[in-house]
Amino acid sequence: MAVTIKSAREIELMREAGRILEKVHEEMEKAVRPGISTKDIDLLGEELIRSFGCIPSFLGYNGYPASICVSVNDEVVHGIPDKHHIIQEGDIVSLDAGVIYKGYQSDAARTHAVGEISQEARQLIDVTKQSFFEGIKYARAGHHLHEISAAIADYAESFGYGVVRDLVGHGIGKEMHEDPQIPNFRQKRRGILLQPGMTLAIEPMINAGRYDVAWLDDDWTVVTDDGSLSAHYENTVLITDGDPEIFTLSK
Ligand code: MF3
Ligand code: CO
Repeated sequence: MAVTIKSAREIELMREAGRILEKVHEEMEKAVRPGISTKDIDLLGEELIRSFGCIPSFLGYNGYPASICVSVNDEVVHGIPDKHHIIQEGDIVSLDAGVIYKGYQSDAARTHAVGEISQEARQLIDVTKQSFFEGIKYARAGHHLHEISAAIADYAESFGYGVVRDLVGHGIGKEMHEDPQIPNFRQKRRGILLQPGMTLAIEPMINAGRYDVAWLDDDWTVVTDDGSLSAHYENTVLITDGDPEIFTLSK
């Protein structure tokens, strides 16, 4: 499938899908406290998404059984919410969510600290977030896609972290996953030329240890192979004539 260029109307709908998802994340963050189950976070997220008249895009996607991915500590992404999994002080909790508004999608992820966390965990969360901002310095018309990948990787790897290779970012629009794929690690090719109207979900997944990951027997949950902590940060971004517009981060 070719990379699509969104029309002004499509951009406006995706902007609204992004604004809504930003609010959903803000509300979910407040709920991430010791004692809450990962299932309760999912139920809250679904309720919030529906309260804005949106559809949770993850629910039923390839059979995924929930609306929010809740990935704790060494879980990288796609953690399945479970009423028996109770969040503890010191955990780091990655929340990934997507909404569909009038047929258009947004996708964003954040990693939150629960109470007091280790210095190591704090740095991992901060570097993962900053790696996204290093990447989007190149999310501009006239640059090539893999300049984003290289900037994310160079920044994260300078801290000795492992940049996950088995999962990548993606184009987004009517579908959650559109072309192009957006790796977070250095590529041999320079990738497509970025053009105004492209909408991209850029999502570094960074491990404190090695980059290798494994899948649990639930066929969804991705964990670090070496048991190290992992963080995730994702926004839905529009390429413009100037600075990129981050639909899921208006402030
Ligand atoms: N946000 C994820 C991504 O960027 C998708 C979650 S997979 C799902 O690819 F099954 F939960 F939808
Ligand atoms: Co995504």
